Parts: sequence; structure tokens; C-alpha cells
Amino acid sequence: MVEEVLISHKQVVLKNYVIGFPQESDLEIITSSIKLNVPEAIQDAVLVKNLYLSCDPYMCGCMSKPIRPCIVSSFEPGKPLYGFGVIKVVDSTHPNYKKGDLAWGFTKWEEHSLIISPRLLFKIHHTDLPLSYYTGILGVPGITAYGGFHEVCSPKKGEYVFVSAASGAIGQIVGQFAKLLGCYVAGSAGSNEKVDMLKNKFRFDEAFNYKEESDLDAALKSCFPEGIDIYFDSVGGKMLDTVLLNMRIRGRIAACGMISRYNLDKPEGLRNLMSIIGKRVHVEGFVTGDFYHLYPKFLELIIPYIKQDEIVYVEDVGEGLESGPTSLIGLFTGRNVGKQLVVVTHE
Ligand SMILES: NC(=O)c1ccc[n+]([C@@H]2O[C@H](COP(=O)([O-])OP(=O)(O)OC[C@H]3O[C@@H](n4cnc5c(N)ncnc54)[C@H](OP(=O)(O)O)[C@@H]3O)[C@@H](O)[C@H]2O)c1
Repeated sequence: MVEEVLISHKQVVLKNYVIGFPQESDLEIITSSIKLNVPEAIQDAVLVKNLYLSCDPYMCGCMSKPIRPCIVSSFEPGKPLYGFGVIKVVDSTHPNYKKGDLAWGFTKWEEHSLIISPRLLFKIHHTDLPLSYYTGILGVPGITAYGGFHEVCSPKKGEYVFVSAASGAIGQIVGQFAKLLGCYVAGSAGSNEKVDMLKNKFRFDEAFNYKEESDLDAALKSCFPEGIDIYFDSVGGKMLDTVLLNMRIRGRIAACGMISRYNLDKPEGLRNLMSIIGKRVHVEGFVTGDFYHLYPKFLELIIPYIKQDEIVYVEDVGEGLESGPTSLIGLFTGRNVGKQLVVVTHE
């Protein structure tokens, strides 16, 4: 008979479904209790300690009532948020996991979680890099950048590449992939500090602060006098509409995200779609799950780049679960500089 240890732990929960734009006050920290072992009757489960939690833009949509068909389901009011994180196994009845194993994948926003039939957990074998990277460059943002750029955009050396939300979790990786391939790369970001980081840390050729540009078309034309071959789109809306005017013949647009349109009741439409025809532009949307099968190949490529400093990664780390609401909601105002994550415990 295993001794059952009941402990109190903190959780970040959604108070009520959000209408419109989420605020920090829509989330709260509560204290709950959990047994530190998997109940004997539950097979194929792991009890984990959450080490790092990833703040991701899609979580905004999970805070609204589930009315529209959505890629991910809504959070439940009063229950902890869920999302990607880095975990350590404390107890297991799952044949593939034992106490002490490290993994990244789907977990909950609380100190410990019971995960039954884990389908979306990837074991961590490379522990000589920061574990927090598995919320970023070695996790979902990394695979998304890799698949979205290399598989969807079919890039070639010398092409002109534009990246929006370029200093963020995904954008900074896409830009550096493009530079390593020998492309010309420009990016947009929402502050002068971020623009400086794009040019001086990530080696973008050009960058601009879209919040200070009254004429986006002029800003794009100044970066791309010859036009854009590849647009890696994370923001949608006005930026996408203006990029359409600046695409080159047979250009590619990888539709990764549309953060400027999340939680808007009546998003305005695009006016320049005709460009797609005249310029034979290929527009393709994708989701990270399309590329999970490439994860081992991706790790083989990215780990040496990180170790040799050929790709650098900037993180914005919130300390403790208490920082969760500020860290998560900050994504929608551009508060984060680099990949936003929360460290639950440094252990
Ligand atoms: N297709 C998929 O499977 C998939 C997977 C993961 C993520 N995504 C999408 O990829 C995009 C980037 O995600 P990420 O994790 O790398 O996030 P991130 O870039 O680290 O953070 C979001 C950034 O978006 C920018 N932003 C916020 N509101 C904006 C607005 N109204 N207009 C323009 N920019 C705005 C902010 O940067 P600035 O300061 O530059 O404004 C903010 O820092 C998101 O759209 C996300 O939903 C898609």
C-alpha cells in the first residue's frame, strides 16, 4: 500500500469566460490540494511537478465561451488553465515514464498535475541545454518555426524574407533560419528595443517598429525595394493586407497566426487579395501538429546551432505562478521581449 501524501499547491484559474479582450483580472491564483502520487486504480498516468509553463497567444481564445469551432477547446471557469510546459515525473503508473523523468508537453497551470493517458508529452533526452528552452526553441515555437519556414515556405538562398512579430518566440527563430540559409531578412516588432534586438542580436538585415510607422507600405518598400518572396505571418490584419501589395511573383505566405485579430468581434477584412492572383502568390496555413513527426530531425538540426551560438534565443521569464496572469496577458500588448514563459520552480 503506497502512502498517500496530500499537499496544498497553487493554481492559476480562469474566473469567468471572457468577452472581448482578456485582462489580468480574468485570472486568479488559488490554493488547492493534490495527492503526490498516482492513485493505484489509475493506469497509464503520471503525477508531475511543473517546472516551466509556456505563455502562448492561442490561450487568449481559450478564455472565451466555446461558441465558435476552434483548434483548441476553452478553459473551464474555476479550473486551472492548461498549456505547454516542462515537467518532472514524481510518480507514474505509465509504462513509459518513471520517477525523475523530464518531459515537455501538455500540462496544467499549477504546481503539480495528474496527467492521465499522456498523449502529448515528449521525453527530454538533451539536458545540457536550459530546460526552459523546451517551452520555446526546443518546443512548440521551435517546431512551428522550422516546419512553417522550411516546409511551408520552400525558401531558397538569396530570397527576400519578411517576418512579423519578429522578436517573439517564433519570429526570432524564423529570422535566424532565414539568415543561415543566406536570405535577406527584415522584421517588424512593436518597440525600438525589439527593433534593436532584431538587428543586433538576431542579425536581421532590416527591422522597423510598426507602432511608429504611419505608412506601413512605405516602411515595407524601404526594406524591400525589390519586393518580398516569403512572408512569415504571425499578426494578420493590416500588416498582411499591406504585405500583399509588396509580394513578388510566385511569393509564399506562411499563415502562422493572426494575433492582431484574436478576440475581436468584428475583425476588418483584407482589401488587397487581388494581388494573390496577379502575383501567383501561394498562401498556406498550418498548425504545429503538422510537423510533430519532424521533431527528431528538427532537434538534430537545431541543437548544434544553439551550442555553436549560430542561433541565439531570448526568453522573457516570469518568476513564480503568481506572475502567470501578467506574463500571459502581456503577450497581447507586446510586453514580452522574446519567448514569454513562467518558471514555477527552479528545481
Ligand atoms: N499555427 C500554429 O500552429 C501556431 C503555433 C504557435 C503560435 N502560433 C501563432 O504564432 C504567432 C506568434 O506566436 P509566438 O508564440 O511567437 O508569440 P510572441 O511573438 O512571442 O508574442 C506575441 C507577440 O505578438 C505581438 N502582438 C501582440 N498584439 C499584436 C497586434 N495587435 N499587432 C501586431 N503584433 C501584435 C507582440 O509583439 P510586438 O511587440 O512586436 O507587437 C507580442 O509580443 C501568434 O499569432 C500565435 O498565435 C501559431
